[in-house]
Amino acid sequence: MKKFVVAGMLCLAAVAGAGQSANATSILGWQIGGKAAALPHEIIPLDTPQPSSEVFTPAQIATGAKFYGAYCTICHGGPVNPDLRRSALLQSKDAFRQVVIGGSLSQNGMASFAAYMKPADAEGIRAYLNGQAQALLAEERKKTAR
Ligand code: HEC
Repeated sequence: MKKFVVAGMLCLAAVAGAGQSANATSILGWQIGGKAAALPHEIIPLDTPQPSSEVFTPAQIATGAKFYGAYCTICHGGPVNPDLRRSALLQSKDAFRQVVIGGSLSQNGMASFAAYMKPADAEGIRAYLNGQAQALLAEERKKTAR
């Protein structure tokens, strides 16, 4: 059993099945307080970005970029946690706010940021990410059109 830290969360990992057959070896990981899960071996298709068609102001987007960079990239800028450009929650101001300010996913390691920002700042993050999601969608559509 090994202990390691992923993006500030203490995790435990163990190699199961080692020594029996190379193919049967799998890595099991647990996040403290989280659910046990075998790390996937197969490639899981990424969700297609589904940005909202709402129009945000440049000020909202600028605020969002600042807050996203300061508070979110550390966990969401890598391969482990959800890529927020692909989150269906970008569609809904209320749903996004419930997670970021309300802490509705805090049991899963996504804490409330109510102590660090106002709801309007969280909405700015949604505005910023929505633009990023639109850009990603356009990029991926170009690739599949080839
Ligand atoms: C300490 C790590 C950490 C930080 C920092 C963090 N998140 Fe998360 N976030 C998570 C994890 C883990 C999940 C997955 C929770 C789950 O599986 O239910 C998540 C999930 C989410 C989701 C749900 C995505 C979906 O489609 O299911 C949203 C929205 C989100 N985070 C927004 C943010 C925003 C905005 C910030 C910055 C203000 C932020 N997070 C900062 C760890 C983090």
